[in-house]
Order: sequence, then structure tokens, then C-alpha cells
Amino acid sequence: MKGIILAGGANTRLYPLTTTTSKQLLPVYDRQMIFYPLNILIKAGIKNILIIVTPEHSGQFINLLGSMFDDFGVHIEFKVQKTPRGLADAFILGENFINEDNVTMILGDNVFEDDLAREIKSFQRGGLVFAKEVKDPERFGVVEFGDDGGVISIEEKPEKPKSNFCVTGIYTYNKEVIEIAKSLEPSERGEIEITDINKEYLRRGSLRVGKIKGAWLDAGTFDSLLEANKIVKEKHIYENMDPVINRAIEKFNGELKNIKK
Ligand code: DAU
Repeated sequence: MKGIILAGGANTRLYPLTTTTSKQLLPVYDRQMIFYPLNILIKAGIKNILIIVTPEHSGQFINLLGSMFDDFGVHIEFKVQKTPRGLADAFILGENFINEDNVTMILGDNVFEDDLAREIKSFQRGGLVFAKEVKDPERFGVVEFGDDGGVISIEEKPEKPKSNFCVTGIYTYNKEVIEIAKSLEPSERGEIEITDINKEYLRRGSLRVGKIKGAWLDAGTFDSLLEANKIVKEKHIYENMDPVINRAIEKFNGELKNIKK
């Protein structure tokens, strides 16, 4: 299994914060936001990770993560997305990186309390996404479940959502995702949509939708960013990260202090 973190985008909703740095490098409690999705991938046993960034902020990502995990068995590489073409672009940009493997893509601004490791490790075929009940489903991809728990439909930001279950920003697929992503036409908002990938797996009868436990946030607005900070502290998410993350940060901090001496 390979891992991709999508950490680009225009992020205009967080201006002026995102005029000087990328959203995914903003602080969430005691570390940058990107460590939360990175933790999910590392907890799932993923050792090869591609981070997709904007041209403006690529240097900042490399300063932080370019060699932080070198001694910890996690290989990180970077790819620049020149324009935000849509979430499905991750699989086109990541084609050579994914190669013949399965892939889990996670959005760089998603904070999960649940670690999802067991589900991701036992992935076998098709596509696997995770739903969460929310109050404002019209902001997200929305899943409609039948009485037997099977998935009936998935719609991107519907005006009249058919349920309160939204698709969270973590997606596990087999390598067919590359061809599916390449075949997509841009939506009305001009993006190639991850929801269209999910619809295609649903059409092929190979999409599984799990439900996540605990808190989940996409920290893309001022309020959800504040909420993410609170949840991480209150639920001790920072303490329960994979030991590799905390050890790598400690070592990095030590190196920085030595340079400053
Ligand atoms: O958070 C989950 C939701 O994410 C799903 O429920 C939706 O189905 C899915 O479309 C997506 O919705 P958003 O409209 O909220 O996605 P947004 O445009 O905010 O992009 C999500 C993150 O991905 C954001 O941190 C920026 C980054 N991004 C986005 C685009 C379009 C990129 O790095 N490149 C891109 O081309």
C-alpha cells in the first residue's frame, strides 16, 4: 500500500492565514496540521508516502518533512501540483509513484480521532471510503445507504442531501483508480471530482463504505480550524500518535536547537 497526502489547493477560505503559508502547515495544537493525516498513514503501516504541494509552498514542506523520517523507515517524496485541478488529480500526478500497488489518499486538512489502521490494512479490492454523520452534509460528498446497509448513491455537495452521512477525506483504492481518474471530465466547478471516482467503483460493484468512530474534521474554515485545535487537545490525539511521529519530531527539534546554539 502506498500513501498520498493531498496538501495543495488555493485555500482562499483561510485568507489572510494562507497568504504566508499553506493551510496544511498551519498549527493544530502543538504541531503542523499535516502531521495528523501523516499519522493516519503511518499507523496503517504505510512506509512510502507522496505529498502533493503547491509551487508556492513546496520549500516549506521540504524544510519540515524533507528528511525528518529518514531514520525511521518512512520514505517521503514530493510532487508539485501546478493548479488545483481537483482531488482526483492526486492519482494522475501519483501514477508512477503508485505503480502496481494499492493506494490510500488522505486530504492534508483532515483530522481523524479514529485511526482506521485495521480497515486500511485489511483492504483487498476495489475502493474503500469512510462516512461520518454530520449536521451540514450539503458541504460534502453525501452517501445514501439502503435498509440493508448497502450504498445506493453518492452525490457531491447536493442541494438536497439524501442522508446526513458524508464521505470523509480518506480514500483507499486499487491501481484501477489511475485509469478511472484519467477518464474523468471536469465538473461544473471545473474540477475532476473524487466523488466521480467513487461513483465509478459503485457502478462496478466494488465500493465499500465504512463508518468512522469519534471526531472528524476538515480544518478548512476558521471555525473548523479552531475546533480541530480543541479536539486534538481534549481527546489527546497528539499523545496517541504513532511513536514514529513523536520520536521523529523530538529528534528534529533537538537538531534545530543544536543549530541555534
Ligand atoms: O473533506 C471531505 C470532502 O472533501 C468530501 O466530502 C468531498 O466529497 C470532496 O470533494 C472534498 O470536498 P471539498 O470541496 O471540501 O474539497 P476542497 O476543494 O476543500 O479540497 C480538499 C483539500 O484538498 C484542501 O485541503 C485542498 C486540497 N486540494 C484541493 C484541490 C481541489 C488540492 O491539494 N488540490 C486540488 O486540486
